[in-house]
Amino acid sequence: MKSLFLFVLVVIAVCLPGCKENRIPNVSEPQLLEMRSTAIEFMKELKGILIKEIQKGSVLNAVSICSDTAQMLTNNFGLQKGIFVKRVSFNNRNSNNFPDEYEKKILNRFSAMHNDGKLDQTTESIEIVEGGAMYLRYMKPILIQAECLNCHGSGTQISPEIKKLISEKYPNDKAINYKVGDLRGAVSIKKVIE
Ligand code: HEC
Repeated sequence: MKSLFLFVLVVIAVCLPGCKENRIPNVSEPQLLEMRSTAIEFMKELKGILIKEIQKGSVLNAVSICSDTAQMLTNNFGLQKGIFVKRVSFNNRNSNNFPDEYEKKILNRFSAMHNDGKLDQTTESIEIVEGGAMYLRYMKPILIQAECLNCHGSGTQISPEIKKLISEKYPNDKAINYKVGDLRGAVSIKKVIE
């Protein structure tokens, strides 16, 4: 009896960590393709709005239009597809865009890869994680391009008018002093799968 008890204890001890992992399913190919195309579509739409506004008027117009549209698009995009899509960054302009604990972990990983020169257009992260429900979590890095510097560059690259507008709307702005090729943040998608 005593040895049976011991045996059961050992089985539980060995099995528990393993069993927990086994409950989390693997990411399927269709899930990966869906997340990847959603991220690309979302970024394309955002950039499209930005470029259109800059072409229509001035960069100044783009700041105010873009700041509202970015949040609106973030919310609506999620609603349409039953998933949450947003942009996150440690150096966030909008406080809504600060990463959660999971996003921090992946952003740190992207950042280490970037420092090692191992980050490129194909870099992405996908995982199923448990947190009350099962979530599919996908992230893709966002890099700074030349046109971003009008609003995310250093001192002289951002015009005084834009600086003023940004500081009025975002008094705690941290999203400046970037250079082309810098890691700006990531697109983050969260979808409940169970
Ligand atoms: C016309 C000014 C402007 C330009 C140009 C611009 N941004 Fe932004 N960016 C903003 C504003 C304003 C916000 C805050 C949006 C919000 O309220 O969600 C923002 C927010 C972001 C965020 C979300 C994280 C945060 O800081 O809140 C990312 C990521 C980002 N921009 C990346 C880029 C990239 C990459 C480019 C170039 C392709 C770019 N931006 C060009 C004005 C601009």
